[in-house]
Amino acid sequence: PSLKEIFRKDFLIGTALSWPQVQERDPIAARLVPEQFNAATPENLMKAEELRPSWGEYNFNQADALIEYGRKNNIAINAHTLIWHSQMPAFTRRIQSADSLRKFFNDHIKTVASRYAGKVQSWDVVNEALNEDGTLRKSPYLNKLGDNYIVDAFRLTAAADPHSDLYYNDYNNEQPKKRAGCIEIIKKVKAAGVKIDGVGIQGHWHVGRVPFKEIEESIQQYAALGVKVAFTELDIEVLPRNFSGAEVSQRMQSDEKSNPYVNGLPDSIQKQLADDYENLFKLFLKYRDQISRVTMWGVHDGQSWLNGWPIRGRTNYPLLFDRQGMPKPAFYSVIALKGKK
Ligand code: G3I
Repeated sequence: PSLKEIFRKDFLIGTALSWPQVQERDPIAARLVPEQFNAATPENLMKAEELRPSWGEYNFNQADALIEYGRKNNIAINAHTLIWHSQMPAFTRRIQSADSLRKFFNDHIKTVASRYAGKVQSWDVVNEALNEDGTLRKSPYLNKLGDNYIVDAFRLTAAADPHSDLYYNDYNNEQPKKRAGCIEIIKKVKAAGVKIDGVGIQGHWHVGRVPFKEIEESIQQYAALGVKVAFTELDIEVLPRNFSGAEVSQRMQSDEKSNPYVNGLPDSIQKQLADDYENLFKLFLKYRDQISRVTMWGVHDGQSWLNGWPIRGRTNYPLLFDRQGMPKPAFYSVIALKGKK
């Protein structure tokens, strides 16, 4: 069974893609991506740090290969991300003047967005501009360019690529405080008469603690603003948070003591994971007219960023396919929703 077929009439089903997977050097992904997904987000290869080795230089080789991969496999590309305070090129950390940062900002958006104009389905124009309390994060962009930088980013992207959908992307923006900040951003961009098509809710949640009520409220409130809602980086962490950093980091590898689940998940947690994913996709189906896309942040558990975050050496199991590329109970629970509209 295939996720993209089950939900074909509802919303796109995407996955994060790593560079080895674009090169088809991950055999599990080479099989599963064309079979299960009709959308893909570059996990890292389109971030400014990857595209800009030095001030005057752009390296588009990997991004061009991703576009070709999408064309060949009939997979829509959701470009991630133009403006983000994290993973900025090293040379930008030495920028002092507002003028220099403005030049980097303008040049980056125009050069990157125009190169892929009409070749990507969407842009995460700005990523993670908010603090948990909904205020604007004090990034170099805010500090040097002022609080209109977000409107500027959308304006420049729309001018460079009038074809693709433009999203504001963040995590925890299903939570009321950050949701309020997110709503302010959407309203501010719209009030300026600038194009914004959607909001990305990343969806990095924890098993047994998925905030279903807040997610439903957020879908309703974002949709009421006239923007699409996408779930852009869905995974459900299953490890207990009570890892002591010191204890695990001194081992730096997965072993029984540092990670009780190193040999797999207890059945009870596997079941809870399946229930959480089933209930999430039930909710997505309920709001299928408001939701444009659901993207998993990885093809299989072996790819997940959560295997090393926040403590190195952890083994995590947050996705729908396991390390061997086999469907997990969560996958079957989601697939079983077929026809339950
Ligand atoms: O490519 C280098 C490699 O050459 C080097 O040997 C290796 C060891 O230092 O690092 C590799 O780069 C790593 C990169 O992933 C590719 O694997 C970076 O260190 C590492 O920091 C980076 O982590 C990514 C993280 O963003 C930080 O940007 C994760 O893969 C990626 O899943 C994660 O994704 C973010 C979204 O972009 C935004 N939302 C949150 C989400 C999770 O943090």
